[in-house]
Amino acid sequence: MHKKLVAPSLLAADFANLQRDIEMVNQSEADWFHLDVMDGVFVPNISFGMPVIKAMAQHTQKTLDVHLMIVDPDRYIKTFADLGSDNLTVHYEACNHLHRTLQSIKAEGMKAGVALNPHTSIKLLEDTIQDIDLVCLMSVNPGFGGQSFIENTYQKVADLKNLIEQKNSDTLIEIDGGVNATNAKKLVEVGADVLVAGSFVFKSDDPTSTIKALKEQIA
Ligand code: DX5
Ligand code: ZN
Repeated sequence: MHKKLVAPSLLAADFANLQRDIEMVNQSEADWFHLDVMDGVFVPNISFGMPVIKAMAQHTQKTLDVHLMIVDPDRYIKTFADLGSDNLTVHYEACNHLHRTLQSIKAEGMKAGVALNPHTSIKLLEDTIQDIDLVCLMSVNPGFGGQSFIENTYQKVADLKNLIEQKNSDTLIEIDGGVNATNAKKLVEVGADVLVAGSFVFKSDDPTSTIKALKEQIA
């Protein structure tokens, strides 16, 4: 069984105090640093532009887990490799040639992730699961932090876990959106390996303790 991981999402950080919030994550028990990249086309929102992303990447000391919510993500694979991304996740819905995109990500030395929107079936990954290092199941519609967790995610996690086992793959399951203390434990019980948490961490009174508590809850 994989160690269970927590990945704070900087989307919910205080952008006027980015260095402080990145430092907080560095010093915390967080495992990964989740970076949400939005283009205003694939999702209605725009998050950080490239200069800001570069500055953030330079400061983080955790595994850099980049979630691309952009159309035609192949255009940026090399850019994200060059700035030190460890994981690069693209959306299934944004790729015409997913298999090729996954190979390109790996050829640049990164782990390859695929994110699925809430309406996208895990069955669509039957033929690629062995090529995927990480599946990111969206438990909200992507584009914004602070939304409510979609309950049928539990069933999707369980089904995906079955598929991974059936195919004898080593793929990690990451959950992104609306993660908090009420759903974290159940998510890992049904098979999740990595929990992304934005608002729950950064909008809490003491983010460092919230990360610690989340880790303890899923250990
Ligand atoms: C949503 C992003 C998430 C977001 C999660 O499109 O992919 O990573 O930051 O935020 P919370 O935890 O607030 O739902
Ligand atoms: Zn994300």
